[in-house]
Amino acid sequence: MSQLLVIVGATGQQGGSVANFVLSDPVLSARYKVRALTRDTTKPAADALRAKGAEVVQADLEDPASLKAAFAGASTVFAATKTVYDEQAKARELRQSKDVADAAVAAGVQYLIYSTQVHCENVSGGKYPVAAYDSKAEAEAYIRSLPIKSAFYAPATFMQNLLAGMAPRPVPDQPAVYAIANIFAGDRPYPWLDVAADAGKFVGAILANPDKFAGKVLYAGSGMATMDEIAAKISAQTNKTVKYVLMSEEKFRAYLPPAAQDAIVNMFLFCSEHGYYGPDSERLVNESIAEVPYKLTSLEEYIAANVKLA
Ligand SMILES: *[C@@H]1O[C@H](CO)[C@@H](O)[C@H](O)[C@H]1NC(C)=O
Ligand SMILES: *[C@@H]1O[C@H](CO)[C@@H](O)[C@H](O)[C@H]1NC(C)=O
Ligand SMILES: *[C@@H]1O[C@H](CO)[C@@H](O)[C@H](O)[C@H]1NC(C)=O
Repeated sequence: MSQLLVIVGATGQQGGSVANFVLSDPVLSARYKVRALTRDTTKPAADALRAKGAEVVQADLEDPASLKAAFAGASTVFAATKTVYDEQAKARELRQSKDVADAAVAAGVQYLIYSTQVHCENVSGGKYPVAAYDSKAEAEAYIRSLPIKSAFYAPATFMQNLLAGMAPRPVPDQPAVYAIANIFAGDRPYPWLDVAADAGKFVGAILANPDKFAGKVLYAGSGMATMDEIAAKISAQTNKTVKYVLMSEEKFRAYLPPAAQDAIVNMFLFCSEHGYYGPDSERLVNESIAEVPYKLTSLEEYIAANVKLA
């Protein structure tokens, strides 16, 4: 008999990946029916999920009663919260995550899969608080204290950032030369994830074998690469000169909205100094990749398909 999987934030990057992967995988779609929660059930992304066979239900993280109602009958809930960078970023995300967990327990859900991160403030000995990550680590600790089975996945840096904040930009007066500029060291390895294609594969591994992963964290990246290596990979595939250049923190801050500055600067400096998942990042990623029975997207494949330089 098939079980009901409820996805919180089903039209977002992570929830959308999970919904699409489960709906299209023959084994998982036979095992799980998908109920996709979204604030606005009329948007095109909601229509697309309906067309693939999901039930789409309205729910709002700011309305805990809507969550409890939407969890009725579910065996499993997947939740990823969205960071809004303002003064309330940490408190809001922690509260919303706890509300999801409490609603899941109240509705009799058996298993909660939560999108987590490491506690940057604690790992860095207080030096780098990161609202968007510390809130998730604290929510993970809360979920572990509740009477519900849980598993966690911690998404790596999104490869999609190479099309946005980390995109190569033309260098003025140097034809066919591009630069990616940021404040973190170019020779430090980071884990990378094609969030659209592969978030659902890590969560799918848990859904395929929930007992095995109860209490565990999957560190979700398809591999490690430094920014210097990324620049070289983009050069090789586009035949343009792409360099990674260090930017001063002061200049970098000026590009960010004031309320997001500390959170984003701290996140990059934390990664640079401690590693994205702390000192054992590479081992954690290797071990997690070994647990995923689906083919993951490499950086080379992602860059070839998506990173175009005019
Ligand atoms: C962070 O550190 C505080 C203070 O030591 C501790 O109470 C808390 O449990 C830690 N949180 C996590 C998620 O590691
Ligand atoms: C790359 O650029 C070089 C120098 O302009 C040119 O000779 C070569 O044909 C280009 N290769 C590709 C794959 O575009
Ligand atoms: C992780 O895997 C890569 C690729 O297989 C390997 O080169 C590297 O040594 C591994 N690192 C660790 C710490 O296990």
